[in-house]
Amino acid sequence: MSPIGVFDSGYGGLSVFRNLRERLPDYDFIYLGDNARAPYGKKSFEDVYEYTREAVKFLFSQNCPLVILACNTASAKALRTIQQKDLPDWEDPTKRVLGVIRPTAEIAGTLTRSGHLAIVGTAGTIASQSYEIEIAKAFPTLTVRSQACPEWVDLVENGTAETLSAEKIVEEDLRKLFENDQKIDALILACTHYPLLMTAIKKHVPAGVKIFSQGAHVAERLEDYLQRHREMDRRLSRSGNAIFYTTGDCKIFDRQALKFLGYKIHSRHCVF
Ligand code: DGL
Repeated sequence: MSPIGVFDSGYGGLSVFRNLRERLPDYDFIYLGDNARAPYGKKSFEDVYEYTREAVKFLFSQNCPLVILACNTASAKALRTIQQKDLPDWEDPTKRVLGVIRPTAEIAGTLTRSGHLAIVGTAGTIASQSYEIEIAKAFPTLTVRSQACPEWVDLVENGTAETLSAEKIVEEDLRKLFENDQKIDALILACTHYPLLMTAIKKHVPAGVKIFSQGAHVAERLEDYLQRHREMDRRLSRSGNAIFYTTGDCKIFDRQALKFLGYKIHSRHCVF
């Protein structure tokens, strides 16, 4: 197998993986969730970089020529260094690592009519200002309001996303975001865990605000990437298989993954 590697700090990337597999059903995939060390959102730049680097190395060692960082925090804090500093020195510099921020930022302006756009993400993603920087390149006149939601990933990782206390946390963070700008008409979920909180999010987002989650768009962009990079496309195997690894507990991972994927999986334990 020569699969596409998909990495996230935990379960969130499964929301992207699901779309990738729907869009590219013939390709092989390996998913890796670093559940033992999630969440990444509050961790230092150095830690996120080091963990992401280990994950990419693992996926490369499993024969993935292409790795998608299906994690905004890792994309914000580690992608550029891995692409520019590490990749050229690793054993095969023709392997590739792609993230989720740039493809999302590149269509940000098409999501809003008022020109006022909101972003929710982890503390790390928001503090990095990666979205503001990338969006400004493509849509310099947009007003971007961002809000860190430091507890949301924990709610998904520990399986309490459907509880009343989770809804209260979501409500409070969204209130802070929308109270100062009534013109916002689009909200980007800039964390791949957040679609699992969609019920609460929908309930507390003002009427008329479009909610954008990344999965389908990232999948569309990957398909486009493979069409433009035929040499990479030719290297990828196609037998429709998917293997799942977690650094955490496999039984818990399988149970939680069911919520993201809607079907049962049997994950393997991964130690770096
Ligand atoms: N799914 C990750 C993201 O998109 C969550 C990061 C975390 O573990 O805090 O940012």
